[in-house]
Amino acid sequence: MLQKPRGTRDFLPDEMEARRTIEWDMREVARRWGYREVCTPEFEDLELFTMRSGDGIIEEMYVFEDKGGRKLALRPEITAAVIRMFINEAKVAPKPLRWCYFADCFRYERPQKGRYRQFWQFGVELIGADTALADAEVIMLAADMLDTTGVTYDLKVGHLSFMKNLLKDLEPSVQRRVMAYLDKKDFDGLRASLESMEKPDLGNSLKSLVDCHDLTEAFEIAGTIPEKDRIHQTINTLDAAEVNYTLNFGIARGLDYYTGMVFEGFAQNLGAENQILGGGAYRLAHLFGGDDVASCGFAIGFDRVMVSLGATQHKKDTIVAIVCTNEGRIHAQEVARLFRAAGIRSEMDLMERGLGAQLAHASRTADFAIVIGQREAESGSVTLKNLHSGEQKTLDPASAIAEVGLHGARR
Ligand code: HAM
Repeated sequence: MLQKPRGTRDFLPDEMEARRTIEWDMREVARRWGYREVCTPEFEDLELFTMRSGDGIIEEMYVFEDKGGRKLALRPEITAAVIRMFINEAKVAPKPLRWCYFADCFRYERPQKGRYRQFWQFGVELIGADTALADAEVIMLAADMLDTTGVTYDLKVGHLSFMKNLLKDLEPSVQRRVMAYLDKKDFDGLRASLESMEKPDLGNSLKSLVDCHDLTEAFEIAGTIPEKDRIHQTINTLDAAEVNYTLNFGIARGLDYYTGMVFEGFAQNLGAENQILGGGAYRLAHLFGGDDVASCGFAIGFDRVMVSLGATQHKKDTIVAIVCTNEGRIHAQEVARLFRAAGIRSEMDLMERGLGAQLAHASRTADFAIVIGQREAESGSVTLKNLHSGEQKTLDPASAIAEVGLHGARR
């Protein structure tokens, strides 16, 4: 028997309905903040992803050559593609641009619970606003979006300038290596690496910074930082909006394009793969042939949010089974049409089952049965049976529709 590729998943209807419910809740929050949906290709020129991050990233990607010999990659994330699109299609549009997306990404990682090779991100990119308010808006939007799903999480906010100030005397490639240790919270590896460079003191300062959750203290550890006023303003805006977060100056972010404010969210009830949100301020546009445009954004790991929500009961559609005898079929079809026109999910037998078998099937798959035999066909009525309580009454179709509609409203 053929199986799906490693790290991918199939989704049955119940799961898809739960996923769509959460997806639409997120879309609605994005809409309220003015973020409009964009869509980019599933695959891009490989260069789009290696330009900033180097060839090392190829290890974690699905890379292939097409029949014309072009080197392509399935997108491992969407930010680079969105900025490429911005330069190709919208660079003269009035700023700022508020864009969002819900799309699948592909990473060649070792699969485990919450870590997949195909996974979905709900993300936003705010392009062309280089201010403290822009940084704050994106964090507030992320919090609003996670809150709407009902997931319980910790939000951590930091700024790369603290770490960068401590590392400013190191070569850029070494800086990147140190940041990678910090991103993985590998302090032993970090110490060993700094000792080999004869900079053991730096390890202590970095550790103090990572452990510090107070802004004033962080400025004392890291020294003079030009972005000080902007950082204060972002933090004050978050506090005024009563966003629930903690400061964390150890956030290094795995991707290479971040330049300033950074933030991450962690689901409280998940184990190893508990990071459900990542984002920050970044600059990519100049690398792809555009002007140097400041941007800020985040992506929510949609699948991890779903794992975190687990067996939470999502609102389900009310299902009506239209059950009929041969004599009632024409009337039944008309009643089904009326129910569907009223927005109610209605299903008719396709298996040529008798009335008893249709009712038995309905009791396993539906909330209500509309029973139509000769009597109902002749009088233009329907018999409505609540399959949960067993209650049954004969009504005209409009009253039956109203009754079923009320059931939906009560859930
Ligand atoms: P990222 O932190 O690499 O950031 O990914 C965002 C989120 O995607 C993660 O926090 C995690 O929840 C989820 N995720 C990542 N890898 C996997 C996986 N293998 N399986 C399941 N979920 C996963 C970005 O991708 C940036 N583009 C975010 C951003 C947007 N920054 C600015 N704008």
